[in-house]
Amino acid sequence: MRHLAVCPGSFDPVTNGHVDIVRRAATLFDQVVVAVLGNPAKSGLFPLDERVELLRHVVDGMDGVRVESVGGGLLVDYCRSVGASAIVKGLRSGNDYAYELPMALMNRHLTGVETVFLPGDPRFEHVSSSLVKEVAGHGGDVTGLVPDAVLPRLLAHLAH
Ligand code: PNS
Repeated sequence: MRHLAVCPGSFDPVTNGHVDIVRRAATLFDQVVVAVLGNPAKSGLFPLDERVELLRHVVDGMDGVRVESVGGGLLVDYCRSVGASAIVKGLRSGNDYAYELPMALMNRHLTGVETVFLPGDPRFEHVSSSLVKEVAGHGGDVTGLVPDAVLPRLLAHLAH
């Protein structure tokens, strides 16, 4: 039996912390779908299409990994539609756990889908999409925190 995992997120934009989790998920599962979803709790900087485009560029060459845009609806329904065995999320800290745990339990309550948590690499413990946007927005250098292709796009969005 082949096992497929979904790595969901808003990826606004993708960071090197996300890339690390996707790469490690791909060593544990036969296939990984990176699912790009809008999060109503967060106002987006990058249009959904551009997040997907950047992610596709970044995962190019990663065996068994693909990127899909999820228009709306519940993550669990999407997981069912692609036959996912699990959701994979990275945890940087106890704060992440507190944020992720209710979602993991709710998703399991809804359809039984399990969430697998991977400990974030300490190199990226301080890296989040929102902090990267804030730092870059104030002129700080975020080189090495996001994939190279993201950097010019980030600066262009922040300039507008
Ligand atoms: O990267 P984020 O913003 O932390 O990702 C959160 C996301 C998009 C994975 C979460 O908001 C989600 O699953 N949204 C889809 C709608 C849904 O299923 N909501 C109920 C979650 S229990």
